[in-house]
Amino acid sequence: MTAMIPYGRQDISEVDIQAVVDVLRSDYLTQGPAVPAFEKSVAEYCGTQHAVAVNSATSALHIACLALGAGKGDVVWTSPNTFVASANCGLYCGARVDFVDIDPHTYNMSAQALEKKLFEAKQQGALPKIVIPVHFAGQSCEMYKIKVLADQYNFKIVEDASHAIGGRYLGEPIGNCRYSDITIFSFHPVKIITTGEGGIALTNDTELANRLALLRSHGITRDSEQMTHQTDGAWYYQQIGLGYNYRMTDLQAALGTSQMERLDEFVLRRQAIAKYYDEMLSNLPITLPWQHPNSYSAYHLYPIQLKDHLNRRKVFDELRAAGIGVNVHYIPVHTQPYYRKLGFEIGDFPIAEDYYVNTISLPIFPALTKDEQNMVVCLLKQFLEKTH
Ligand SMILES: Cc1ncc(COP(=O)(O)O)c(C=O)c1O
Repeated sequence: MTAMIPYGRQDISEVDIQAVVDVLRSDYLTQGPAVPAFEKSVAEYCGTQHAVAVNSATSALHIACLALGAGKGDVVWTSPNTFVASANCGLYCGARVDFVDIDPHTYNMSAQALEKKLFEAKQQGALPKIVIPVHFAGQSCEMYKIKVLADQYNFKIVEDASHAIGGRYLGEPIGNCRYSDITIFSFHPVKIITTGEGGIALTNDTELANRLALLRSHGITRDSEQMTHQTDGAWYYQQIGLGYNYRMTDLQAALGTSQMERLDEFVLRRQAIAKYYDEMLSNLPITLPWQHPNSYSAYHLYPIQLKDHLNRRKVFDELRAAGIGVNVHYIPVHTQPYYRKLGFEIGDFPIAEDYYVNTISLPIFPALTKDEQNMVVCLLKQFLEKTH
């Protein structure tokens, strides 16, 4: 039996392996020089002033919300078409979470729906403190429009760019925080680059960067300028807030820095794979992932939509049985039992729900070969004909 072709997977080179081995042989497995080196490499790539590396994008989202002051009585809005972590971060802080339905073409939070919801929320005195647009599949949201609304309605923006490192919006790198307060990336192995587990928060605001760094490590500082009184000596540190242990290790950071060397190559490869799917699948009764002209996607995912959900189930099962590790992104967050208990109902965000019932994510990752892609295309055609 041949191995399953997954929907996504990491690409690890001998150079990556050596970078991790070098750390293993060094003095620091954590809290050493590899973490700031990785932060510098991501910040420079994106053109952002500060970067705070952490142990996951989930942690990055949590401390981003805390750093922006989310707490009890506040509201955080995100997209329903995302992984649960984009919404959970608001709940961790004691805030309430709500959603904004998606655009039917990009599957990203709709700027139009956001505008309408903000208008209504203002009437009710229930404006959000933070909005978290998610760059689904690697394609940027319409950040220019969202930033105009942020200025008008006075909310903060955290870009959940977990899928999107290496992508661009209006010709500039996603992550530069031109339209947001904080941007976060994920380095889980299925993402564009990996550190095993890992995430990062980027910002151009020095005060926010300090808060993020404190929250990452117990609320502890060794910087005498941040202390309440003169240091007792070289050993001294102070806990000046309540933080966590969300640190990234040097092993992870070294892998990340090494992966950054191939980031552009990875995204070009993903773009080429997407283009080939676009060509090969163009005449089938499916909707291909439409690209906004302002976007250069990192193509974390290649989601297609079938014409009806009965076919989706059949085609999905047949592809899986044939060794194609297709997946589904995403079950709308508000339909999860935990969120249903908070009061959300089926039908609350109909566009995300309609999209969900028909979607399948096809394999896309740098090492996917032409032969494997042809096999995916051929099987998909065959199964679509059968179910028609
Ligand atoms: C959109 C989005 N946000 C957040 C996360 C959480 O990332 P991590 O696994 O690094 O915590 C994911 C992970 O899949 C994601 O897809």
